[in-house]
Amino acid sequence: MPVITNIDDLKRIYQRRVPRMFYDYAESGSWTEQTFRENTTDFDQIRLRQRVAIDMTGRSTASQMIGQDVSMPVALAPVGLTGMQHADGEIKAARAAENFGVPYTLSTMSICSIEDVAEHTKKPFWLQVYTLKDDDFMQRLFDRAKDAKCSAAVITVDLQLLGQRHKDLKNGLSAPPKLTVKSVSNMMTKVQWGLGMLGTKRRFFGNIVGHAKGVKDPSSLSTWTAEAFDQALDWDRIREFRKMWDGPLIIKGILDAEDAKQALNVGADAIIVSNHGGRQLDGALSAIKSLPAIMDAVGDKIEVHLDSGIRSGQDVLKALSMGAKGTYIGRAYIYGLGAMGEAGVTKSLEVIHKELDTSMGLCGVRQVGDLSENNLLIPEDFEGKWQ
Ligand code: GLV
Repeated sequence: MPVITNIDDLKRIYQRRVPRMFYDYAESGSWTEQTFRENTTDFDQIRLRQRVAIDMTGRSTASQMIGQDVSMPVALAPVGLTGMQHADGEIKAARAAENFGVPYTLSTMSICSIEDVAEHTKKPFWLQVYTLKDDDFMQRLFDRAKDAKCSAAVITVDLQLLGQRHKDLKNGLSAPPKLTVKSVSNMMTKVQWGLGMLGTKRRFFGNIVGHAKGVKDPSSLSTWTAEAFDQALDWDRIREFRKMWDGPLIIKGILDAEDAKQALNVGADAIIVSNHGGRQLDGALSAIKSLPAIMDAVGDKIEVHLDSGIRSGQDVLKALSMGAKGTYIGRAYIYGLGAMGEAGVTKSLEVIHKELDTSMGLCGVRQVGDLSENNLLIPEDFEGKWQ
């Protein structure tokens, strides 16, 4: 086993071990993938301000997200089909997160169900919720989250319809995978993955199969989203969801200051600045470039979090220094999961924690909550001048 020192090391192993269909699913953005690419390259435009001869002993990355203690403000983002990246993937990722002391967010489009993850973990996790037309399904989803003692609901508002990712169409993405000559010949080369999958019963969308009515092909993400998701979603409808769930609420998928102001009226505890990892509106601004305007608009009124593009502790540091109180990693832990299961997710978290802690120290900061723009060098034209 090679020595793993960064997230890219995990990505290389992940790519070798997981069937192409699921690697492509995680590693794609929509259409031209411009936003997907810029989510990471825009982080690179920001530099860190080195300070020296400042006592850096007693550093801590511990803080809070929505009032809940976290060992570092880096939650695991909801990722659909996680249980196809590695057998029982959601349970493994949730366990790694709870042992590390960071929140795990289970996707509606998970393979392991809410109940299954609750049964195999000790600490509460968060449930990500898609906005569907079916009121009964929605209410039951929130009720199931309550029964499972989920400590927050994360409502995704940027996926009323699915952005097109070319490779998913070409690969015929589904869970479980359809057995074609192409998919079978690729899966046969992924021995560990295949043995894991043969050893588990969890191979279907666990929150949907047996829970949602009238879905023609419940194995297909694109069929399900096209049939069931609510294209008529508006802020009044989101306020109805607020009434269905009386626990902590996070609104995910805000990229515009006007939308951030709207989200304030819903009574959420936090918003997540996110473009869905570049998987929805291709051509949209990167998450980190969108953050400053949103901080100006609502930063003193609501907790602001950020996902999309974080691959290192330095990226986390940059987002926190610009005002985010929490961040999320998606692909960065999926690489670890696909590479090495639960131990790989732990490794991803360790890598990011070490990068964050070391970079904080070298910036002369001991407490993660003390990070500010003072620790960054941000190009004057970073946000861009747009008409
Ligand atoms: C679903 O959330 C996706 O991005 O595929």
